[in-house]
Amino acid sequence: MTGINKIEIAKDNFTHRTTCRVCGSEKLHKFLSLGPTPLANSFLRENQLEAVEPYYPLDVYFCSNCYLVQLLDVVSPEVLFKEYAYVTGASKPMQAHFTGLVEDVIQNFKISEDGLIVDIGSNDGTLLQCFSKLGLQTLGIEPASNIARLAEAKGFRTVNEFFSEKCAVKIHEEHGNADVILATNVFAHTDDLEGFVRGIKYLLADNGTFVIEVPYLLNLLNNLEFDTIYHEHLSYFAVYPLIYLFRKFNMEVVDVKQVPVHGGSIRVFVQKAAKQQSQRVTALLLIEQEAKLDSLKTYTKFGEEVYSLKEKLVKLLKALKNEGVRITGYGATAKGNTLLNYCKIGTDILDYISDTTPFKQGCYTPGMHIPVFPEEEFHEDPPDYSLLLAWNYANEILQKERKYRQNGGKFILPIPEPKVI
Ligand code: TYD
Ligand code: ZN
Repeated sequence: MTGINKIEIAKDNFTHRTTCRVCGSEKLHKFLSLGPTPLANSFLRENQLEAVEPYYPLDVYFCSNCYLVQLLDVVSPEVLFKEYAYVTGASKPMQAHFTGLVEDVIQNFKISEDGLIVDIGSNDGTLLQCFSKLGLQTLGIEPASNIARLAEAKGFRTVNEFFSEKCAVKIHEEHGNADVILATNVFAHTDDLEGFVRGIKYLLADNGTFVIEVPYLLNLLNNLEFDTIYHEHLSYFAVYPLIYLFRKFNMEVVDVKQVPVHGGSIRVFVQKAAKQQSQRVTALLLIEQEAKLDSLKTYTKFGEEVYSLKEKLVKLLKALKNEGVRITGYGATAKGNTLLNYCKIGTDILDYISDTTPFKQGCYTPGMHIPVFPEEEFHEDPPDYSLLLAWNYANEILQKERKYRQNGGKFILPIPEPKVI
């Protein structure tokens, strides 16, 4: 049974905030509604398919005071992250990316020989592994107990908690200051940014560096990456609101680099004492200004473009289906679930979705209930078309699946414009 259940907005486990999480302003403007949506990583087992699935509002707002783009409907982090389906090590390109990140940190920032590296949202230890290979002391902080156990089993010390000011104090008591604190793909997941930054300030050595990686708003807008919007991602950062936030705590963004992961991200370096700021910071601020990231109009236009993308994609898929071809999904990504639910793409279009993550295999996607199969299925019985839901790994996947393409198999890239390749 893979039908779609009746949509019911959850009655609990989420709150609606009325102020901006960076500046506290109430000047908030809704510019896009993706509709009530189930949680993007809540893959279902077969015996859960008949149960009522909680749906939550997925509306996006712009703060006209500090220019932060954000969700105001906040699903309880306990619900989102206590058990987690995403395992970093399952995506090979992320391992290579983290090796580059570590080199960047080591080459540009001082770390004492016995210095401590703390990774917030450390997942299975993939990033920490690169530091421990260099003989550095590491500590992971990971709220998902299933994932923290994975990391511990691999030998990475992991605190199974959400990072907070309280957690920072506890870690400091036990381990002292950290030379480097990292938060890759976790800062945008945090509702209480102020508490988070207070914790960082407490735990970080005076000359230490806090490194953030978050998807970059400019890429989201330019490439119409609307599917990266889901309940786990509360903030869609540009450099300007980040500077605004850290200055409230007398901390300074000292450098920022654009990195090609998750559809285009920024790597942001923050320090306590205001030292010299890299030219790159001012250069990106200028680019943001030119792109009018400070204007509501930019976002209303984006909202219209998203709607038109949906129409085009659905039309293309239906036309292909009418020709009688077999279509699957490639990569059971969280973003894929935003896309599938928003466009209402179900098993009438996609036979299944292939994915390399063991946790996801044998499960069904939230909302649209498409079965997830191991990627062997894709190789053994290749479909005519595959919708690339893991488009952020397009280069790697096209390379990996060149045989499929040589044999006539096609990929459908959903964004920035539906395209068959
Ligand atoms: P990710 O890109 O992190 O997307 P999201 O944050 O939206 O969940 O996840 C990538 C997913 O794609 C993950 O479930 C693993 C899967 N995947 C494959 O199935 N095959 C591949 O070759 C790659 C690179 C990823
Ligand atoms: Zn604001």
